[in-house]
Amino acid sequence: MKNSKEKIFIGKARGPINIALIKYWGKEDEELIIPLNNSISLTLDTNTFYTETKVTIELSDNKNNDSSLQNNITLTINGKPSNVTKRIRNIFKKFFSFDIPICKELASTILNIKIESINTFPIASGCASSASSMAALVLAITSALKLENILPKKELTKIARLGSGSACRSILGGICEWVKGTGDCSYAEQLYDNNYWNLGVKLIIVNQKEKDVSSSVGMKITKETSELFKYRINYVVSKNLEALKKNLKEKDFNNFAEIVIKDSNNFHACCRDSYPSINYLNEESDFIMKGIMILNKLKGNNICAYSFDAGSNAFLIYEMNNKNIIDNFFNYIFDFDHTEISDLFKNIQIENNENNINEINKLKERRPLKEKILNQIDFILGEGTKIIYE
Ligand code: PMV
Repeated sequence: MKNSKEKIFIGKARGPINIALIKYWGKEDEELIIPLNNSISLTLDTNTFYTETKVTIELSDNKNNDSSLQNNITLTINGKPSNVTKRIRNIFKKFFSFDIPICKELASTILNIKIESINTFPIASGCASSASSMAALVLAITSALKLENILPKKELTKIARLGSGSACRSILGGICEWVKGTGDCSYAEQLYDNNYWNLGVKLIIVNQKEKDVSSSVGMKITKETSELFKYRINYVVSKNLEALKKNLKEKDFNNFAEIVIKDSNNFHACCRDSYPSINYLNEESDFIMKGIMILNKLKGNNICAYSFDAGSNAFLIYEMNNKNIIDNFFNYIFDFDHTEISDLFKNIQIENNENNINEINKLKERRPLKEKILNQIDFILGEGTKIIYE
């Protein structure tokens, strides 16, 4: 590389969170992050929740290629010197392994790498922060090295997978499937774009604390100890995948919601069945699940699904034309507004009879304290991780 010392490569990207409808839980290969099963998710918009990452890759003057440089890379994350974690190193190593001039040049050079990253949401609380941050990192490096027109999206999903499995799905927009594949060929693909189905997602935050058991550790324990999990992998997931794909194709929300709810339940049951038992949910999560089951029952068909990743925060999924009903219902049962129950029934189009009144009032009596509902964020489907050009 001529005049290589002057070279500095900068790239920036914004990555979204995604919510899994059919969960990824358990690795076939820990090193390559190959999952035990395919998974399907919704990529959410980046209006409020996202990770924005800037990567600066500089050629170092330091000729002292000792082991502290960890494979020729010194890294600072948000201004602090950092050990290059194995996963981040794997991402860079993958980029530098391509048979592309800039990648080959950087592979043999000592580098200073600076990663500056902001998250707009609570980290490690089941809000998929690793997915958005690893997806943003991959696109930021892609942009820094000007590879966006060279590396296909599928390749980028494979690289993001090395950072955090579910990150591969955050690269793409709309409704995505992570295809288990074999060896290095485990990738995400888009099933439908973000305009295919007018779905909304409401995230109800009931816990901002870091989870006790990380997803990596949790899935290892479950795989090693849960009998129920064997049934999930051998039977439940393939059945749910097939049914969900059919529901997506037919835009059949009633059956779609049933599968999404059941897959979330099954995943959390496997966590509970692990030894030691893992519980990502809390009382507030339980209350929200009950609320949705009652709403769907009173409506006579499923208009809302819930799903919980490895955390107690609830993701509610609905068709946008039903958003008002879901808003009104939850505002009432959380006691956020003081509508009369007769008005609620009018608003959510449910018959105003004694049975229905009793059912809703019984539920409302068990509502969590208002301060336990920390925040509610509304999403629509998004377009995936985007490079930011400045
Ligand atoms: O990608 P990880 O290692 O953060 O694991 C994600 C696991 C779940 O969020 C629970 C499920 C999923 O498919 O996203």
